[in-house]
Amino acid sequence: MKITIVTSRGNKHICDIEAETTSTVLQLKKSFEKKNKKYYVDRQRFTTSTLGADGKPVALTDDGKTLSHYNIKSDTTLLFKDLGPQISWTLVFLVEYAGPLCIYPLFYIFSKQIYGTDFQKSYVQDLALICYSLHYIKRLLETIFVHRFSHGTMPLSNLFKNCTYYWGCTIMVSYFVNHALYTAPSSINVFVGLVLFAVSEFLNLMCHIQLRNLRPPGSTERRIPKGGLFDLVSCPNYTAEITAWIGFSIMTQTLTAFIFTLLGAFQMYVWAVAKHRRYRKEFDGQNGNPLYPRNRKIIVPFLL
Ligand SMILES: NC(=O)c1ccc[n+]([C@@H]2O[C@H](COP(=O)([O-])OP(=O)(O)OC[C@H]3O[C@@H](n4cnc5c(N)ncnc54)[C@H](OP(=O)(O)O)[C@@H]3O)[C@@H](O)[C@H]2O)c1
Repeated sequence: MKITIVTSRGNKHICDIEAETTSTVLQLKKSFEKKNKKYYVDRQRFTTSTLGADGKPVALTDDGKTLSHYNIKSDTTLLFKDLGPQISWTLVFLVEYAGPLCIYPLFYIFSKQIYGTDFQKSYVQDLALICYSLHYIKRLLETIFVHRFSHGTMPLSNLFKNCTYYWGCTIMVSYFVNHALYTAPSSINVFVGLVLFAVSEFLNLMCHIQLRNLRPPGSTERRIPKGGLFDLVSCPNYTAEITAWIGFSIMTQTLTAFIFTLLGAFQMYVWAVAKHRRYRKEFDGQNGNPLYPRNRKIIVPFLL
């Protein structure tokens, strides 16, 4: 059958593609790439020119699904959108986490040059360096060995946005925690903060392992997470990440660490709301689909 491809803006004809109803979206994308070398598979996004049941064009989001799944017949017109240059998801994570790992210790090691005075470091400054570094080492290792991402790439522009956030926040936190005038809080503060940080990091890792085990290797399958903190909230990995930074802030008692915690909490809350909605929409109990637990909260157990 013949499929006509036009631009999503302006409906300009790009090419015609021969495909079968049993062809997958990935096969369609590969055929498109053959005719338009610049637009490799990860750069392509197709939507139908007719509207779906919800009154919106249907996006061909699942590469493994067949064209018939999206009700595409002969002489269908599809709209093509260029997603722009892409970068591997793993590379983005590695670069954005390598920044904090390299930047944070600079303020600790070169404190004499940066603050203009030689001073005896507090044990809290030593502990903070260890905690901050371990957090990002853990994230790097999780990115390589634990997570099973469903998307291979993301737009290159995200790299600059994410690096600005992580690298910028690291400078802000590290500058004040390692400052010559830094005063350590009481040891009870340090103890409570450190324990909260360590327990939260462990729980965050457990959640990531649970998420990994939901997805068979090489697939992009999504399932309802069950057990442990997932029985209470949809995104306990975010909950634990936030409590880890609350622990770090209590331990160091610096305003910039609290600001970093608030920024991260806000961002993760926004994402958690979207993920919670997606779960409820995806697992609606209809047509053999499992039903997402109705009493599960978003990010704060029993409350939110
Ligand atoms: N400090 C901060 O500002 C900040 C902000 C964001 C994240 N983080 C940290 O980074 C970690 C990872 O963040 P994220 O946003 O990538 O977490 P996420 O969306 O929860 O995903 C983690 C991994 O699990 C997979 N996954 C999620 N739900 C799944 C399901 N129902 N079935 C199968 N697989 C599923 C994801 O695959 P997909 O590729 O399909 O999504 C991804 O590979 C967070 O837990 C947090 O510790 C920190």
